[in-house]
Amino acid sequence: MKYKDPNCSVGERVEDLLARMTLEEKVAQCVQIYIPPEGREEILARIRKTGLGSRILSAVPLGGSVTQRTAGIADLNEVQRIAVEESRLGIPILSGMDVIHGQHTVFPIPLAMAAAFDPAALEQASAIAAAETASMGIHWTFAPMMDIARDPRWGRIIEGYGEDPYLGAQMAAAAVRGFQGELDEKGYARPGRVLACAKHYVGYGAAEGGRDYNTGEITDHTLRNIYLPPFKAAVQAGVGTVMSAFHDLNGEPASGSRYLLTDILKDEFGFEGFIVSDWASVGELVNHRVVAGERDAAALAFDAGLDMEMISECYTHHLAELVQAGEISTQRLDDAVRRVLAVKFRLGLFERPYADTDRQLEQLPLDEYRAASRRAAARGMVLLKNNGLLPLKPDARRVAVIGPYAHERRTMLGSWVNDILADEPGTLADALRAALPEAQILTAPSGLYDEMLMAAAEADVVVLALGESHARNGEYNCVASIELPAGQQALFDALAGLGKPLAVVVYTGRPVALTRIAPQADALLLAWHPGSLGAEATADVLLGAVNPGGKLPVSFPRGEGQIPVHYNHNSTGRFNPRYHDMPVTPLFPFGFGLSYTRFAIDGLEVQPQAVQPGGRVRVSVTVTNIGERDGEEVVQCYLQDCVSRLTRPVRELKGFERVALQAGESRRVSFELGAEELSYYGPGGRWVLEPGEFKVWVGSDSNASLEGSFRVV
Ligand code: BGC
Repeated sequence: MKYKDPNCSVGERVEDLLARMTLEEKVAQCVQIYIPPEGREEILARIRKTGLGSRILSAVPLGGSVTQRTAGIADLNEVQRIAVEESRLGIPILSGMDVIHGQHTVFPIPLAMAAAFDPAALEQASAIAAAETASMGIHWTFAPMMDIARDPRWGRIIEGYGEDPYLGAQMAAAAVRGFQGELDEKGYARPGRVLACAKHYVGYGAAEGGRDYNTGEITDHTLRNIYLPPFKAAVQAGVGTVMSAFHDLNGEPASGSRYLLTDILKDEFGFEGFIVSDWASVGELVNHRVVAGERDAAALAFDAGLDMEMISECYTHHLAELVQAGEISTQRLDDAVRRVLAVKFRLGLFERPYADTDRQLEQLPLDEYRAASRRAAARGMVLLKNNGLLPLKPDARRVAVIGPYAHERRTMLGSWVNDILADEPGTLADALRAALPEAQILTAPSGLYDEMLMAAAEADVVVLALGESHARNGEYNCVASIELPAGQQALFDALAGLGKPLAVVVYTGRPVALTRIAPQADALLLAWHPGSLGAEATADVLLGAVNPGGKLPVSFPRGEGQIPVHYNHNSTGRFNPRYHDMPVTPLFPFGFGLSYTRFAIDGLEVQPQAVQPGGRVRVSVTVTNIGERDGEEVVQCYLQDCVSRLTRPVRELKGFERVALQAGESRRVSFELGAEELSYYGPGGRWVLEPGEFKVWVGSDSNASLEGSFRVV
């Protein structure tokens, strides 16, 4: 039996196995279900009879917002044994679970990881999450999520990398490499790695009104130039699976769109893995009212190119019959099954179907993982304002640590964390108490505002922890107002009235309006939902053990009336847009973030000044740490195509580098711009590189003013 022989190529093994399969066995490979304790025996009988493509370990939808128990190794191995030993062909089952930003050691939410502008750190975080996940016998995570999001009302903004396609693409590729390891001819079959899933394909973040699951309308031009690049980068990094989104885009549900799934993803991008639906999104085609019933839903999705159905079982009930009736071709069925089998072979699942009891969680270097999480958390924090109050002086005597998040644990972790498995985080109050052993830490654990005010009144300096809880963002948790939750502004105003030095730490998963906080706070630190060691990492930054260097991966609006506000908007024809009642610029722009030191960026050189299409331009600057402390600056390179046939963004990020510099140190930093950076999806539905002038700006945020230019001739 060739398919059981690891010395044969993946292609040979797939063909050998496919040739032995019955119609029912093929259909079963296209199915992913949850195995509930009640229906277990029935499902095991089904596995014996036909095998099963995959099992998902979440029992319910909205998996990121509820506490879930997951199958233990014994159960995973027992079900697997039935598939391997008691089904006719012995095809192992893929077990999948959402591991979004950590399994046991929780890393900061993805938006915060993006804020570090450090793909290597995300790759490491993903590799650690993979090791922990694999140690639990799980093969596949439904991550990374790479939906471009321009609307902070949408709760799932926390799960992605923000508003920018270039940053999003770098991060997406890094996460894929981290979860899966490098894909080579041997596949991704490395112990301690897991299969990744690029989601939610595509345009899910463009939900109208920021309401989850809602309709999106995106022109082809914007789809290609803004929303697709992270997915393309994930495919190029070898991602094994892609998840089709819930919503309808331009009048077609993504899970039933041949244009999106087959024409673009498989044919144009050359994606060789398989496409899985989002939770029941095949069955939900009926709710979208593009089909009258589940049989037609199965036909539409499968024909569109959706290879594996999660949960709703329209394929189980109707696919065989659709093939027999000639409504779905055998070639299409074989194509889907080939894709699923190839992924299983590349994962090494036939050689190692069972959970490796030697790689159990306790045997992993968890202390190292915790240290990496703490570093990542501090690296992603963004200093939005500082009038010199931070870093806190080590000799601070009486420090009030108050506010709704001063004693909170769960919020540190963020949404999409499996509470049962996650390492329990500490609190900010405890972390500051440990970091300032000489100081008196004044707190108000009761949460009563009166007590908070009393603590503040007695203190020399106040650290106020505001923000939103993990339960207020993530899937299906959208808000109409991006103001801080009820009462927090009033608390802030009362504290500001005391006139004490006031540092505000904001724990949040989405941009919140800080318009009435920023002017009055002495310092403002954006800490996101920073993970298992988030409290300690906050203390690291507040005390200066870590000099903050994170930057905003998404614009921070002044209020929801500005939404969408993103730096890469198109040029307009008439005047600059304006409002009567608010500036049009965001409160804090994309790419913005301060440090405890200062940096100068100068000496811009663009070489050569003229290139042929296909040639490369090198943009170089000198970055100098002109302050007194060591620190890190994210040097950012923006591009404008000065005259283009279609309207284009005023500027677009095309390169960044996070540079560590000692006080006084300088470094030359270069960015290479070639055909990929200079072209866009333009007239006639083609990628074009139009000759003419290009401008570049290099600096420390998206308002960078150091300018150069070159020509494409
Ligand atoms: C979410 C996905 C997730 C899936 C499985 C869905 O509700 O949209 O992101 O991977 O559930 O839990």
